[in-house]
Amino acid sequence: MNRPKRGSDQHRYYARIYSGSRIVVTGGAGFLGSNLVRRLLPYAAEIVVLDDLFTGRRDVIPGAPNVSFKQVSVTDGPAIRPYVQRADYIFHFAARNIVLSMDQPATDFEVNAAGTMQILLQSIGNASLRRFVYASTSSIYGNCSRLPATEDEYNVSVPYAATKMCGELLGVAYARSFGIPYTALRFSNVFGPGQVSTNPYCGVVTKFMERLARGESLHIYGNGEQTRDFTFVDDAMDAVLDAAASSATRGDVCNVGTSAETTVNDLAAIICRIAGKPDHYPRQYVEKRRIDTVHRRAVSMSKLQASTGWKPRHSLEQGLCKTWEWYLQEANGRKGDEA
Ligand SMILES: NC(=O)c1ccc[n+]([C@@H]2O[C@H](COP(=O)([O-])OP(=O)(O)OC[C@H]3O[C@@H](n4cnc5c(N)ncnc54)[C@H](O)[C@@H]3O)[C@@H](O)[C@H]2O)c1
Repeated sequence: MNRPKRGSDQHRYYARIYSGSRIVVTGGAGFLGSNLVRRLLPYAAEIVVLDDLFTGRRDVIPGAPNVSFKQVSVTDGPAIRPYVQRADYIFHFAARNIVLSMDQPATDFEVNAAGTMQILLQSIGNASLRRFVYASTSSIYGNCSRLPATEDEYNVSVPYAATKMCGELLGVAYARSFGIPYTALRFSNVFGPGQVSTNPYCGVVTKFMERLARGESLHIYGNGEQTRDFTFVDDAMDAVLDAAASSATRGDVCNVGTSAETTVNDLAAIICRIAGKPDHYPRQYVEKRRIDTVHRRAVSMSKLQASTGWKPRHSLEQGLCKTWEWYLQEANGRKGDEA
């Protein structure tokens, strides 16, 4: 059954699926992981966050009686085993980010590929496990031949894309070999509340908002005509909850995006408008980084839509408005703390 679109029906649907369940969220102190913990909070009997706090922050994990935190690396098999062995759902979101993957490719491999293998390995034999969701990435498409990209293609160009793809393939193999109820979701440029600028992988939306709020010019890598498929975090979290609940996604890989391409220049213009700044707000075009290899990105959302009925509820502009409101509140909170 597909999830009802919104409101109390949607709540009842998720309650039916997740109530009373024991959940592990790796990377739960990060942007996506902490948003997911908040979404599961009303339903789960127990949520255990496993995170080594590399980019994550302890204070973004909600304090609630059904949430606990263990500071541990996903590469530490014996330490994670007791948690993943009793989980009904595992959401594996921990990863080293794309920026780091260029400077420390060996660590990128250890965490993203070998760490994913550890989580899968330690989950073998857990008879109560209903779903293992792996946070993959649209980075695996690189400069792919067709847009919007469909799940049957990949074209890796940076170490991060290769190690995330490696995690995906391990998941498929462990599903087939050991019966792990696995689903991979390829997220595309997720943005929204909770994406803090202290994280080097925070993404362009947060960076633009931070610079606007400080009255600084916007830094744009290259000529700004590169496109991305920006996904609002609440929609991405709906996708996670829907995919984990659906039998149709078991053993499968699905994109999470909007299919829409937006240039970085257009993104800058929309954010300036939302922030009440003029169209000609200063922009500084700076040299591309080594990770900036992808010219165009948009991912097809047809597969996830067909299996679960999921589709984004927010336009780019709506998502950016909500993010800007959150950003201002955060910035005011920070000022209050400093005063
Ligand atoms: N945000 C996006 O736009 C996006 C897009 C595509 C894919 N993803 C994937 O989604 C997941 C979450 O991304 P995010 O944006 O929330 O990033 P994030 O950096 O905010 O969160 C990652 C979390 O993983 C933790 N972590 C890193 N190494 C670890 C280790 N060895 N053991 C335990 N915890 C560790 C970090 O401390 C952090 O809390 C990642 O797997 C990422 O590859 C994100």
